[in-house]
Amino acid sequence: MKNLRKHLLCPKTLALLASFCASAAMAQDRPTMGWSSWNTFGLNISEKTIKNQAAAMRQKGLLKAGYTYINIDDGYFGGRNKKTGELLIHKTRFPNGLQPVVNYIHRLGMKAGIYSDGGKNTCGNYHGGDTIAHDVGLYGYDERDCEFFFNECGFDFIKVDFCGGVDYHNSEHLNLDAETRYKQIAAAIEKTGRTDVRMNVCRWDYPGNWVHDIAISWRTTGDINASWGSVKDILKQNLYLSAYCYGGHYNDMDMLEVGRGLSKEEDRTHFGMWCIMASPLLIGCDMSNLNTNTLTLLRNTELIALNQDSLCLQAYVVQHKGDTYVLVKDIENLYGTTRAVAFYNPSDKAADMSIKFEDLDLGGDVLVRDLYEKEDLGTMTESMNVSVPAHGTRIYRLQADVRLERVLYEAETAYLGKYQEIFNNQAYKSAIYESNSSCSGGMQATWLGSDPKNDLQWRNVYSDQGGKYNMIIKYISGESRNIVVNVNGKDVKTLSCNSGGWGTIGSKSLSVELEPGENVIRLYNKSSSSWMPNIDCMTLRPADNDRLTVGINRPAVQSVTTDNSFYTLDGRKVKNPTTKGIYIHKGQKVLK
Ligand code: GLA
Repeated sequence: MKNLRKHLLCPKTLALLASFCASAAMAQDRPTMGWSSWNTFGLNISEKTIKNQAAAMRQKGLLKAGYTYINIDDGYFGGRNKKTGELLIHKTRFPNGLQPVVNYIHRLGMKAGIYSDGGKNTCGNYHGGDTIAHDVGLYGYDERDCEFFFNECGFDFIKVDFCGGVDYHNSEHLNLDAETRYKQIAAAIEKTGRTDVRMNVCRWDYPGNWVHDIAISWRTTGDINASWGSVKDILKQNLYLSAYCYGGHYNDMDMLEVGRGLSKEEDRTHFGMWCIMASPLLIGCDMSNLNTNTLTLLRNTELIALNQDSLCLQAYVVQHKGDTYVLVKDIENLYGTTRAVAFYNPSDKAADMSIKFEDLDLGGDVLVRDLYEKEDLGTMTESMNVSVPAHGTRIYRLQADVRLERVLYEAETAYLGKYQEIFNNQAYKSAIYESNSSCSGGMQATWLGSDPKNDLQWRNVYSDQGGKYNMIIKYISGESRNIVVNVNGKDVKTLSCNSGGWGTIGSKSLSVELEPGENVIRLYNKSSSSWMPNIDCMTLRPADNDRLTVGINRPAVQSVTTDNSFYTLDGRKVKNPTTKGIYIHKGQKVLK
């Protein structure tokens, strides 16, 4: 196997592999785009409202921009026939049942979504006084209701809420295990024979890594409302969840409040951040009554392209200074020269923000395009400075000459094997991310260990050529605690760590051997009773070289001027590779 891997990684095969990966990514589902009834209409929905919204979505060019789903939320229930178990539909809101609505949506070339609950009652029943919506949830009726929704009516999407499963949201005080219930519901969907139904889990917190196997997306927060405080709080809760967005499955930051009373700047932040963080984009305003600013923002194809990018990634925080954040993600090609970056200023004051391109793993000249304004800003080198108003965000597409290998891996961008936000994390032995002003980025991962599965993984450590690297792990521990360092499934070293206090950062260096391509670096311990140190970050530098460039997507150097001061990359003239900003890989041939 090992030999085969080495053999596979010749340049030609790498190119093949890259195009295979690109097509594999193509096959992944993109975040759901569409409209949902809840934010504007609440329980007050009807056949007419839903049909009008569907027609408006098409007429306003939103379908063309990629919004496809028309989702009926809570409010359509009419009780349940106790004898037959049949789910009844509200007689005055939907006098003709759901079928004609689904047919109408389908006829317009869109997809139709529905809503239910994992327990017996909906949230609108318990909190909104919709007395009729009791015993209408899936509990006890998984197969029957799924057959009705997906085969009889033809729905294509379902949001499954959980008021019926959490004791303080339902009158019976039913307390159901979310993992068990959602897995049962997923099995019932599978039993209908439909393979294209999307399920959204609505448990209002990140429920645990099991959710990946059964849902396209999952809510990670309580309900959004049309206020800046709500948008800011939801963003805060999602900034460090990028590791759980992979393989076409997404953190859901809730339906959009764009066009519902936020300021223009706040609406732009809300939409842009939902785009770069790959959250589903479900419009929540009244589409039959949109002003020009809202419509222009919702139809911004360049921001939407970030959301629907074939790599299906959520941007991660690469710089946190004061109250401001810079987030970045690869677009178009993994570890390529094109990245998207957001400068996010949630504070109440304007901020002058700045980042070095090398901190974004980019080198050489960088072409910058403003995605809000759809405007090229020209070429920049070394760093970029951006003035961002209060509550504002600026988002750019960067196209660099060179991609550099990543050096700094923050704990808050790592995948935690048992991460969840439902149970008490100490009792459940599941690690969390926590702020700590002594740490780089102001964050650490804590409550790791005490279970080998309660680990931390950097799953995307890319090395262009493989080989020896110096690894430094920064940690915090006021007592002696162990870390086992595991590289690609092999334990490399056990580190005994004591930084001399809970406010003090310690560091350990070791040498590791990386494979060419993606590597997984895992920190864990083997004990079932002792915690690991808190982890701040890891750095990786090649043992015998400066920072390396990434070659897969690097354009070939085509020619060099006689005085060696310029060379041509990809048809463009760039500075001498040996001068500032351009990093040439050891052994790379520069053609004369
Ligand atoms: C919960 C959900 C909301 C909405 C309402 C409907 O609060 O989180 O998104 O679906 O229920 O009652």
